[in-house]
Amino acid sequence: MELLESPAAMSEWAAREKATGKTIGFVPTMGALHRGHEALILRATELSDSVVVSIFVNRLQFNVASDYDKYPRPIEQDLEICQRLGVAAVYAPTNDSMYPDDFDTVVSPGELAKPMEGSARPGHFIGMATVVAKLFNATKADVAIFGEKDYQQLAIVRSMVTDLNMGIEIVGYPTVRESDGLALSSRNQRLAPNHRLAAGVIPTALQAAKERFERGERDSRILIEMVNTIICREDSARIDYVEIADVRSLQSVVDIKQECVLAVAVFFGDVRLIDNIVLKP
Ligand code: PAJ
Repeated sequence: MELLESPAAMSEWAAREKATGKTIGFVPTMGALHRGHEALILRATELSDSVVVSIFVNRLQFNVASDYDKYPRPIEQDLEICQRLGVAAVYAPTNDSMYPDDFDTVVSPGELAKPMEGSARPGHFIGMATVVAKLFNATKADVAIFGEKDYQQLAIVRSMVTDLNMGIEIVGYPTVRESDGLALSSRNQRLAPNHRLAAGVIPTALQAAKERFERGERDSRILIEMVNTIICREDSARIDYVEIADVRSLQSVVDIKQECVLAVAVFFGDVRLIDNIVLKP
């Protein structure tokens, strides 16, 4: 397994792979790899000849400095996981190689980046889109896998690839969950034990709303109220938002007639978790 630590080294390696006729499958991550990331890597293996995994905690997409500082970075463990899964190359660029002092260009997504995570985390999606564009360019990937857990991120990446003619196939992957339903996340390991237990209320609330929706409830205000009530049963939970939005435009929907995403962001202590579920009429 190759370890590549700069965009130049990554591009050279990718060019050599492509010269031998291989296709490149890419899984971008910020490390602290868990079974969710592993599932994406295995999907990439099915879809391409050589898999590249990037591990880069992207300062540009963090709007809270302490969240960036406290983000877990178990690099040795991550490399072992990649090795075990047969990854061809890990791309772990240094900060300086990604953002030299004269770095001056960003990718700014439009309407899709305004609601939900976009309004809760100003600048987050500019940082995300910018780094993903840089990673795509360096890895020369043919296909990239993204988790549906970050629903808005996936929608923005798809739109960016179309709008900027990036010519890379984007594949979504369903959310991988713990036995109590909690979506796997690198941030889960920062939860205090009592908060980890309480966080199970998130999938419980989403599932309850989905069941009510399937029994015929189409008023998003009632479903949102229900999610709020269930999550608030845990005293330690602090809700950031609960939204129901059109799956394509991500605009809020009141009377649900089309496919929608029910998305939440909830704090437990200083750890912020997101999750979502799709509602199909
Ligand atoms: P990160 O949070 O490390 O996630 C990397 C990829 O794993 C994303 O596509 C994310 O949606 C997916 N993922 C995370 N948890 C998952 C789960 N429980 N089930 C399925 N997939 C899951 O998302 C990022 O990093 C960054 O924003 C990045 C795209 C790397 C840009 O910096």
